[in-house]
Amino acid sequence: MYQAKQTRYDDMVYNRVGNSGLKLSAIGLGLWNNFGSVDPLDRQRAIIHQAFDLGITYFDLANNYGPVPGSAEENFGRMLASDLRPYRDELVIASKAGYVMWPGPYGNWGSRKSVIASADQSLRRTGLDYFDIFYSHRADPETNPEETAVALDQLVRSGKALYVGLSNYSGAQIKVMAAIFKDLHTPFIIDQPRYNMLNRQIETDVLPALTAEHKAAVSFSSLCQGLLTDKYLHGIPADSRAKKGTIPFLHPAQVEQTLDTVRGLNEVASDRGQSLAQMALAWNLRQPAIASVLIGASRPEQVVNNVQALQHLDFTSQELQRIDDLLAKQPTIDWQAK
Ligand SMILES: NC(=O)c1ccc[n+]([C@@H]2O[C@H](COP(=O)([O-])OP(=O)(O)OC[C@H]3O[C@@H](n4cnc5c(N)ncnc54)[C@H](OP(=O)(O)O)[C@@H]3O)[C@@H](O)[C@H]2O)c1
Repeated sequence: MYQAKQTRYDDMVYNRVGNSGLKLSAIGLGLWNNFGSVDPLDRQRAIIHQAFDLGITYFDLANNYGPVPGSAEENFGRMLASDLRPYRDELVIASKAGYVMWPGPYGNWGSRKSVIASADQSLRRTGLDYFDIFYSHRADPETNPEETAVALDQLVRSGKALYVGLSNYSGAQIKVMAAIFKDLHTPFIIDQPRYNMLNRQIETDVLPALTAEHKAAVSFSSLCQGLLTDKYLHGIPADSRAKKGTIPFLHPAQVEQTLDTVRGLNEVASDRGQSLAQMALAWNLRQPAIASVLIGASRPEQVVNNVQALQHLDFTSQELQRIDDLLAKQPTIDWQAK
């Protein structure tokens, strides 16, 4: 029987999510990759135990995480039932609806029909009574924002979610949704955007919108799927996400194209006495609007390494300038790479 470490809350940082009552661990664990039906359960369990033992309380799911889609929720549900059930009230468990999940016109996007059915499926797969946060995974260009907002609001009113969030919405879309949620008194507290040193788009759009609305962000792909670690400095290792070939973005030419920048950033990290992954997470957390940074992990050691980022979060202006100078020289990255 799993017994969580007594010391688990000693060193983790917990940040308040905007002006809500909720605090999140400054580092959260995402289950997009490495928690599917194709991944060994023992390793999944070891990663999750390691994360919780280090004070990570935020676990991030979506309906489609796997592969196969849905299997990450099923696997997390298994671990909840066998190990984590006594700790349910110490966990913030999130899921999302909005990407394609089942065939036909209702298994995708943000209609009331899709959002409510998807949340019900996710609750069944995890065996949970409610999610702590339920997100709209992306804005639906064909559905009135009010319909998606009302569906999320209904999840809260029917006890299926405590808080709601948005993901991959622009600053303007966040403002529209925030106004609807305000009218409805929906506990909308958080946005989940992509943010890392190689993709700073939200700095001029999403982050100002969140600050104006007194909401917070939890960043995803904070390590740019592994590019912002020391993983690819000497080629593409056999046990890497890039080698698996499942993520079009991480193709060998992309890895190659970022290498000069990554080498430079690695030097800055090493001068700070950190690994590059640790510096990348600390760099995200320097933003006051970012309450938490999500990490993916393929083994427990990566979680241990990444959580140590919290031991050195502050940056000197010279360090920030060195990073900006390196990033300014990085050729444009193709985020839609197929
Ligand atoms: N809302 C959305 O649309 C959206 C989209 C993407 C992700 N997310 C969420 O964000 C979470 C994290 O995203 P991500 O998987 O892209 O995360 P990431 O943290 O940018 O990349 C994770 C990968 O980096 C490598 N890594 C992690 N720590 C390392 C370390 N210390 N040293 C060397 N390599 C290390 C591992 O790669 P290897 O596997 O190669 O070892 C790991 O699988 C997801 O699980 C999901 O919950 C949300």
